[in-house]
Amino acid sequence: MASLLRQVARLRPVTFRLPVHSITTNAQSRASAAAAVAHDTSSPFEQPFFADEPHGPRVSTPIPGPKSKKAIAELNQVFDTRSLNMLANYQQSYGNYIADLDGNLLLDVYAQIASIPVGYNNPSLLLAATSPDMASALINRPALGNFPQHDWASILETGILKVAPRGLNQVFTAMAGSDANETAYKAAFMWRRQMERGGAHVEFSPEDLETSMNNQVPGSPHLSIMSFTSGFHGRLFGSLSTTRSKPIHKLDIPAFDWPQSPFPALKYPLEEHVQENEEEEKRCLEQAERIIKEYHNPVAAVIVEPVQSEGGDNHASPAFFKGIREITKRNNVLMIVDEVQTGIGATGKFWAHEHWNMAQPPDMVTFSKKAQTAGYYFGNPALRPNKPYRQFNTWMGDPARAILFRAIINEIERLNLVENTALTGDYLFNGLERIQQQYPEQIQNLRGKGQGTFIAFDSPKRDAFLANAKALGINIGGSGAKAVRLRPMLIFQKHHADIFLDAVQKLVSS
Ligand SMILES: Cc1ncc(COP(=O)(O)O)c(C=O)c1O
Repeated sequence: MASLLRQVARLRPVTFRLPVHSITTNAQSRASAAAAVAHDTSSPFEQPFFADEPHGPRVSTPIPGPKSKKAIAELNQVFDTRSLNMLANYQQSYGNYIADLDGNLLLDVYAQIASIPVGYNNPSLLLAATSPDMASALINRPALGNFPQHDWASILETGILKVAPRGLNQVFTAMAGSDANETAYKAAFMWRRQMERGGAHVEFSPEDLETSMNNQVPGSPHLSIMSFTSGFHGRLFGSLSTTRSKPIHKLDIPAFDWPQSPFPALKYPLEEHVQENEEEEKRCLEQAERIIKEYHNPVAAVIVEPVQSEGGDNHASPAFFKGIREITKRNNVLMIVDEVQTGIGATGKFWAHEHWNMAQPPDMVTFSKKAQTAGYYFGNPALRPNKPYRQFNTWMGDPARAILFRAIINEIERLNLVENTALTGDYLFNGLERIQQQYPEQIQNLRGKGQGTFIAFDSPKRDAFLANAKALGINIGGSGAKAVRLRPMLIFQKHHADIFLDAVQKLVSS
C-alpha cells in the first residue's frame, strides 16, 4: 500500500495539450507562471492570472457544429440530451474559456451553473488532483461516519472550516446542494423536538418510537420549513418542498405541507424607488412573521437565499435579511441561509450574507457549487443530534472533494480572488449600466450593484439573447422567466469583462 502511494507521488501532473494556445508546459510550471504574473503588485488585477489563457473567444462553426452534432446523437442513444446546452471538451478548456469538439472556444460566464470557481484546468487544482493525498482519498473513499480517515480533522480545519462563516465553527459534510439543505432541515427538526422534550438528555417516549415507524405523530411530527416564493433549494423530496421557482421541478412529486412567504419584488433602479421598496420589504417581513406564528404545521426553520438565483436573480436589502433574523430569533425558529449558489466569493465577499453585517449569525449556512463539495455550517452544539446515527449516511461527504475545496481556497487566497471579483464586478456593472442607458428596452432591471459579478438583468427576448450570445463567443445562462444571469468564475477580470460588454452591445443593438 505504502509503495503504491509512493508510486502515485512520483507521477507527474497531467499536461493537457491545448492547441488553442499551444500549452506544452506541465501543471507545476503553469502554476508558477500564474503566480509570477499575479504577484506583479503594481496592478495585481490588471495582469492576466493565467498568462497563457486565450486572448478571446473563437467561433468557427455554428454551435453545435458538425462534430458536436454527431457526438450528441451518439450520446442521446444512451443518455437524455434534452437539457443539453453545449457538448464541452474539458481537456481543451482553459481558464475562463470553454471549448467544444468543433474547435470553438467560448468565454464562459455561466461556469457549469455557477460551480467552477478558479478556471478550467487550473494548474494549482491539477497539482492537488494529482497529489498522493487525493489519490488515497479517491481510491479509499471512507464511510466518514464510521471510519473517518486519520487526518479528516486536519483536512476540515485547513479547508472547509478555515472559511467558515463568522460564528459557525462546525460542519456536517454532504454531497450536493439539495443534500446539504435536506440534512440542515433534519438538524432543525431534531433540535426542535429535542427542545420540546426538555433537552438532549430526555429519552424518546415509547410512543415516539412506535409512531415514527408508522409515519405518524408524535414520532413523525407535523413540523415545517418555511421558504420564500421563487426560492430554489434543490430537487430531493424535502428540499423540493421548499423550492418554489418553477412547476416543472415540482410536478407529480408528493410534497410536505410547508409554507411559503412572499419574497420582496424590488423595483429598479433602487435609488429611484427607495420608499416603495422599503414598504415592499416591510410587507414581506410582516407576512413572514404572521406565517411563523399561525401556520398549522409549526415552523422549525426558515430557509432563504441571499440572492434568489434559479428563481430569477431576485435581490433584497440587508435590512430585509436582518429583519428575518430578528423574527426568527423572536419566535425561536432557526434561520438557514442557503449559500449554495451565492457562496465562495462571487458576490465580492466570501459569503454573500457578510454583506448584511448581522449582529447575530444565521443558525446554519449551506454550501456547495463553487466549493465542489457540500454541507452545512453551524455553531450551536444543540444542532448536533443527541444520539449517533440520527444524522448519517454511508459517505457523509467526500474527502477527495474536501481536499479539492482546500486547494480552491488556497488559490482564492493566493490570487486574492474575492477582491478581484468585487472590483471586476463594479467594472462590469458600470459597463452594463452604460449600455442600459443606450438600450433601456433591451436591458431592464439591472441588478447586483456592489455584489461582485453576481449581476443580472431582464431581457424582453431572453432566450434569443442567450442563444445568439454563443455565436459571438459567449456562454451565458438565464434564471427565472426573463433574467440573463452572470455567473463568471472568480478569475474573471476586466479584460474578460470588456469582451463580454462588447458582445452585449452587439446583441442589444442588432
Ligand atoms: C440556492 C440553491 N440551493 C440548492 C441548490 C441545489 O443544489 P444541487 O443541484 O447541487 O442539489 C441549488 C442549485 O442550483 C441552488 O442554486
